[in-house]
This record gives sequence, C-alpha cells and structure tokens, in this order.
Amino acid sequence: GKVAVLLGGHSAEREVSLKSGQAVLNALQNAGVDAIAFDPKEQPLWQLKELGIERVFIALHGRGGEDGTIQGALEFMGLPYTGSNVLGSALAMDKIRCKHLFKSAGLSTAPYAVVDSKHGFDTTAIMNELKKVMVKPSHEGSSIGMAQANNAQELDAALAEAFKFDSQVLVEQWITGREFTITVLGDDVQPVIEMTTPNGFYDYQAKYQSNTTQYHCPADLSASDTEHLQAMALAAFELVGASGWGRVDAMQDADGNFYLLEVNTVPGMTEKSLVPMAAKANGASFEQLVVRILEQTL
Ligand code: DAL
Ligand code: MG
Repeated sequence: GKVAVLLGGHSAEREVSLKSGQAVLNALQNAGVDAIAFDPKEQPLWQLKELGIERVFIALHGRGGEDGTIQGALEFMGLPYTGSNVLGSALAMDKIRCKHLFKSAGLSTAPYAVVDSKHGFDTTAIMNELKKVMVKPSHEGSSIGMAQANNAQELDAALAEAFKFDSQVLVEQWITGREFTITVLGDDVQPVIEMTTPNGFYDYQAKYQSNTTQYHCPADLSASDTEHLQAMALAAFELVGASGWGRVDAMQDADGNFYLLEVNTVPGMTEKSLVPMAAKANGASFEQLVVRILEQTL
C-alpha cells in the first residue's frame, strides 16, 4: 500500500526532520516503494486517509512528532506506523521521567536535579551538590536549549535559556569523558559509535554543521565494554517501552564507568546521522535500513 513519510512538523527540530524525512523518502522511492512526503505542519493529518495512505514512516523529531501525539492520532485513524507506540514515545521524549526510571531500575545514569519554572529552586544548592552540570530542557532533542554550567551564576543563565523551550528542566551532573551512541533495530543492537568534537560536547553545531566532529564506528572499546554498553542501551530502550528502532546515548567517565543519557525514538536520519552509520558498519545500506524500519508497519 501507499506510504507517507511524515516530516517537518512544528517542533524546534523541524529543520532536522525535513532532512531526515527527505533522505528516508528518497531511499524508499529508490527501493520501489510508493511513497510521498507529508508535513503535518502544512496539511491536516486526516488528509492521509483522503490520499489513500495505508502505512506511515514517522520521520518527525521532537514535540508533536516523536512524543506520542502523532502516534496516538495514527492509532485512532487505524494507520500502522514505524517505531515506538504512544507510551514509549511519550516517555522517551521526557528526559526527567526517563532519569527517574533509569535510577529506579538500577541502570547507571549521572546524578541530577529537576527544576520546574513553576516552583522555587536553589541554584547554589544544586551546584554545591553536582559541581559541574549540563542543563537540558526536558522535552527537546538535538541539544536544543542545552548549556553547561560550572557555578550558580552560569546555572541561572543556562536555566533562563532552557526555560525558553520547556518549563521542566533537567540539571544533570556533567560527565567528563567519552560520548557514545547505540542504535537499536528491531530487537538487535548495532555497532557502538563514539563521537568526538572540539566543541566541548556533541551540540547542535557538532551534530549537523561541523566538519570537525569525528565518528568512530565501531567504537574503540574492549569486547566486554562494548557488550556492557549494548546491554545497557537495550535495557534502557525496553524500560521506557520503546520499540522498533531507536538510539540510546551514553557517556563514559575517566574511570571507565558508563552512564545512560537518553533514548531517542525517532533518531536523525540525515546524511550525518548516527543510525545510518551504525547500520552501515553492520553491512546494511541506508536503503536497506529504511526498508527494514518500514517493514515494522506490516
Ligand atoms: N533528536 C535527534 C534527531 C536525534 O536524536 O538524532
Ligand atoms: Mg534526544
């Protein structure tokens, strides 16, 4: 049946999604799939029915597209879609609730504080406890609205910026060390990727614009560290109820300990993106990857 690739949308990651969606659409068409692009910012979703769409590839990132909203609407319309269901999507999009879950399940994750703009908070107390932090709007992606802080004054500034995107903000202890990502495809984990950047962390610029970001795939880790990290990623993926495909981000400190950062249920599919890189290291072309993800709708 006819396939719609949902792309764009109205989140802060719209530009990334347009690129992901276009790449997915091209690959599906090259593979002979009868597919069209559909931007739910431009067209009402119910038009999918009028267009005769029977299956949906979700290439929307961020709020409205990756957080269960579209997934719920598609369930209601009876249209099969790629990736996680409503619950898994909504939970994975909520960094704060994911941290609570990781902690309660005994999965390693950095110490953190939660700041809500509606409630009082004490930035001096937070910095005394956590020393050096990364400030993250709870429901964003692609590092949007994120900043590092080393003292209460910097935390105040970082929170002011993060509040532009979200009333709930995660203040996570900054792990100095290596940054990794692990792709999940179906029930399988793919080769681990390590990202290195001169930017201080793998921020928006390092992700999409930089030529100085380096990717190491498979990452230079011992077999046991690789296995440990992949098992941890799969556990986190399943814990939040994600399914189909996704990507789990993690750090390793100087002592060799690993820490989970988050789960992404609609990871980037641009030319520079990580999931296609991991799939390629495992022998699958971009086209094969996209076709395999679409098969989840059958
Ligand atoms: N949020 C971006 C698209 C990613 O995780 O790849
Ligand atoms: Mg993310």
